[in-house]
Amino acid sequence: MNYETAIQSIALCKDYKNTKALRDINLEVRKGEIFGLLGHNGAGKTTFLKILVGLTYPSSGEIKIFGEKINFKSRRYFGFLPERVSIPSFLTPLEFLKYSYRLHDFVPKKIYPEIEETLIKVGLENFKKEKVAGFSKGMLQRLGLAQCLLGSPSILLLDEPGSGLDPEGLISFRNIILEENQKRQATIFLNSHRLLEMEKICHRIGILQRGNLVAVGSIEELTKEKNQIHIKLESINQNILELLKKISQHFYFINETEIVLEPRDSTVVREIPKLLIEEGGNILFYSKKKESLEEIFLRITRGEND
Ligand SMILES: Nc1ncnc2c1ncn2[C@@H]1O[C@H](COP(=O)(O)OP(=O)(O)O)[C@@H](O)[C@H]1O
Ligand SMILES: [Mg+2]
Repeated sequence: MNYETAIQSIALCKDYKNTKALRDINLEVRKGEIFGLLGHNGAGKTTFLKILVGLTYPSSGEIKIFGEKINFKSRRYFGFLPERVSIPSFLTPLEFLKYSYRLHDFVPKKIYPEIEETLIKVGLENFKKEKVAGFSKGMLQRLGLAQCLLGSPSILLLDEPGSGLDPEGLISFRNIILEENQKRQATIFLNSHRLLEMEKICHRIGILQRGNLVAVGSIEELTKEKNQIHIKLESINQNILELLKKISQHFYFINETEIVLEPRDSTVVREIPKLLIEEGGNILFYSKKKESLEEIFLRITRGEND
């Protein structure tokens, strides 16, 4: 093991009255990585985060932070962006962040420069003295992120960070998360059902299904090569078309010169470039198709995990 573990859950279970929200979760999040927990609504993602920050307790099992069983002091490691950001409507961003900062264990004397910097980072500097009562969902989300970043915590816990954000907001959140990770090696743990967002930034992902952790790994590790080939040719003549019909089970055109084909017989795969060239084809691109995160997620959560 050549990495340090930031978060470790051991046989973690959480039962609500009639619901097994988490079942026997064994998960390690490495220091300095961006880890994403994926799952449908109700899969147990928020419950996992709530246990981490001490908003609820496990029914059995435990969680360790940097090797230490969680306790009330563990909160010093965390910045937390909850699923629904809720801020008293009479406060301004400046007041809210000052108030939040005072709740920290250790409050540096000069908190103002950091608060100002954070407001600039999340794009709220022009609204810092306006009451949050009139804020949009996206602006509240930005203020929630600002609170989460205060004090540069070692671990950022983000519950559905993209919710309520427009495309520009999503890009700026993504850049902030990447910067925190790359510049100061913050560990990022985020929950989401937005697959595209996760695919762009996560080093590793876990998939939760009805309280069970059904897969963990990097996207490369979870990807299966599909039995499909993507080919781009300079042009496609009649002979090539005949060849494609002969060698493929199915094929379809992406445009006039690009095709995706599923070979009739896997032994022919290695021969395809040679056969195309023999028919006068000039190959510009040739690649085996890989699954997208969406395809991985659907395959695993449908139980077709062969
Ligand atoms: N306080 C609670 N009391 C009872 N059931 C709850 C409570 N919180 C969550 N649950 C249930 O636990 C399951 C997991 O919920 P949650 O962790 O919020 O899922 P997710 O964040 O993945 O959408 C759901 O079935 C939900 O209804
Ligand atoms: Mg949730």
